Amino acid sequence: MQQDFFAKIVDYRRSVRVYDAQAEIDEQIIQKSLELATLSPNSSNMQLWEFVWVSSPDKKEAIAKACFNQSAARTAPHLIIFLTRQDRWKNMAQWNLDNLKKQFQGKELSGRDKRAMDYYGKLMPLFYRNDWFGFMTLLRKLIVLVKGFNRPFLRVSSHADQRVMVHKSCALAAQTFMLSMASHEYDTCPMEGFDSRLVKKLIDAPAGAEVCMIVACGKGTEEGIYAARTRVSSEEVIRKI
Ligand SMILES: Cc1cc2nc3c(=O)[nH]c(=O)nc-3n(C[C@H](O)[C@H](O)[C@H](O)COP(=O)(O)O)c2cc1C
Repeated sequence: MQQDFFAKIVDYRRSVRVYDAQAEIDEQIIQKSLELATLSPNSSNMQLWEFVWVSSPDKKEAIAKACFNQSAARTAPHLIIFLTRQDRWKNMAQWNLDNLKKQFQGKELSGRDKRAMDYYGKLMPLFYRNDWFGFMTLLRKLIVLVKGFNRPFLRVSSHADQRVMVHKSCALAAQTFMLSMASHEYDTCPMEGFDSRLVKKLIDAPAGAEVCMIVACGKGTEEGIYAARTRVSSEEVIRKI
């Protein structure tokens, strides 16, 4: 029963490119869907993301232009910019550490508790710290080479690896948002067709932020679905070993 309900939501969600300008939008549903997006799984619970909700007509028009005036961006009444915030790693490592300290207050620390504290106090800085000269990347590459030589080891060393990490989590949040919207029969369209530099400038995003995806949302029209949904057969992409 529950599964059927979920399948219906997944099936309802399509990338809708034309929106009804007259339709009433319950903004509480957008708010709620964004709040649900914050519950998405994310790497080490670092939550290195920010969801920028663009609803003012002027800003929206400017962002739509930065999305090359593509139909979804131009016609949707709301745009959500899913930003990665790798620049916030220090604050978020500390935030997690503070939460642990609160949880452990007055308790004798077990080995597991100490490991959890080290995870945010020592490991996260090792993962996320960068410098102009690439010393930290070099250090991480060396550690991966030595420690991972003949045993399983997390192979995260370069800035590209870090970017993959934060974009993965942010994309999951975007998906939670879209499915939540779909559960209320609102439509969405994820977009990566935009000038990221321009978008960042328009929303005053810091240098360390990156635009993961922009999601157009509202009430779609029938012509907003450009074609029937097609996928390759499950046998081609699902491999059980
Ligand atoms: C990361 C990502 C970027 C996308 N970028 C765009 C885009 O810029 N413009 C657009 O119209 N659709 C975009 N799409 C929508 C895809 O074209 C769409 O998901 C795909 O064709 C499958 O159709 P469906 O979403 O209706 O199932 C994007 C989807 C994803 C996941």
